[in-house]
Amino acid sequence: MTQIKVLITGGAGFIGGNFVQYMVNKYPMYDIFNLDALTYAGDLTKHREIENKKNYHFVKANIADRKAMFELFEKEKFDYIVHFAAESHVDRSIIDPGIFVRTNVIGTQVLLDASKQIGVSKFVHISTDEVYGELDFNPTTFFTEDTPLNPNSPYSASKASSDLFVRAYHETFGLPVNITRCSNNYGPFHFPEKLIPLTISRVLKDEKVPVYGDGKNIRDWLHVFDHCTAIDLVLHKGDNGDVYNIGGHNELTNLEVVKTIINTLGKSEELIEFVVDRLGHDKRYAIDPAKLEKLGWKPTYTFETGIAQTIEWYLDNKCWWEQIVSGEYQNYFKKQYKFEKD
Ligand code: NAD
Ligand code: DAU
Repeated sequence: MTQIKVLITGGAGFIGGNFVQYMVNKYPMYDIFNLDALTYAGDLTKHREIENKKNYHFVKANIADRKAMFELFEKEKFDYIVHFAAESHVDRSIIDPGIFVRTNVIGTQVLLDASKQIGVSKFVHISTDEVYGELDFNPTTFFTEDTPLNPNSPYSASKASSDLFVRAYHETFGLPVNITRCSNNYGPFHFPEKLIPLTISRVLKDEKVPVYGDGKNIRDWLHVFDHCTAIDLVLHKGDNGDVYNIGGHNELTNLEVVKTIINTLGKSEELIEFVVDRLGHDKRYAIDPAKLEKLGWKPTYTFETGIAQTIEWYLDNKCWWEQIVSGEYQNYFKKQYKFEKD
């Protein structure tokens, strides 16, 4: 009997990496292929514990490379595709939007074509709540699956465009797809350009933490392990063509997040420095996950338990993030942030 073959794109990154490890360990009877271009955001050192397992395979390739994708799909005849690969950082999309179109839009469309060609059983597209735009500060409003798409940043515009292509391939060609739209993730292997790992890594070095604007913008935080169980459920039980929102009702202002980390690490709040606001900075995101909960999903982490586990992980895995923040990252950081004393 042939094994089920699952292609996970972007599996050297943060969420894709956690999902690869989750799938390799949970489904020894599946062949898990991790496809990644290994951009600045991808690294394979995170997979040391699974890299020798029989059901784990790595392919270095760019999803926008049509020839490479068609050859690979024809050779492996994947059953399931779970598509994470993307340029994922809003600030970088403000600096250089073009790469976001090439990877997030064209790359996704290439994968859809290759999936159509071989007739996959399921294509799960990992999208984001940012495609809905922003909410105001009224705590009773949430994004549902019916909220109109209204992206504000080049990043979210590229993700919304890719969502529309996924939808169109279902409507036009009958490709069995799902789209998931998740809120902000945090947890192990989160690249230190994003708020939570940036704060942890800088506070541990007694360096200033840059907070955009007044720090009152709100994000809805979900531990990456809970995101993995949600995607697993959608992959196996999601209704073809459907969208599922994923979130755990953990709304916090950025200032609350940063202060929680500083206080947990026993450092001074004077490390906080308010810096020039992000252009087009979305005020608030908040997910209504009722549809996914009806399918049987429940998050297991509160923000309190999740952030404690995450801080612990960064303390135990300094060698992973220290080699990142000491390299090319420094050039990006200097370009992105201006501190008072610079
Ligand atoms: P990440 O930046 O940590 O990882 C992205 C991965 O994709 C990297 O390993 C990178 O090398 C790879 N990649 C980039 N361009 C590629 C290309 N052209 N071909 C092949 N591989 C390429 O991203 P993440 O935070 O793990 O996000 C993963 C997905 O989840 C993205 O699609 C993102 O939009 C979505 N998402 C992220 C969050 C979040 O909070 N991080 C929340 C909701 C949705
Ligand atoms: O909502 C889901 C999205 O969450 C994903 O689609 C994106 O891929 C992911 O990067 C994340 O986007 P955000 O822009 O919300 O995440 P980020 O960590 O960059 O910022 C979180 C909040 O913190 C946001 O309001 C901006 C603020 N911030 C961020 C950084 C990096 C700061 O105040 N200072 C900073 O230095």
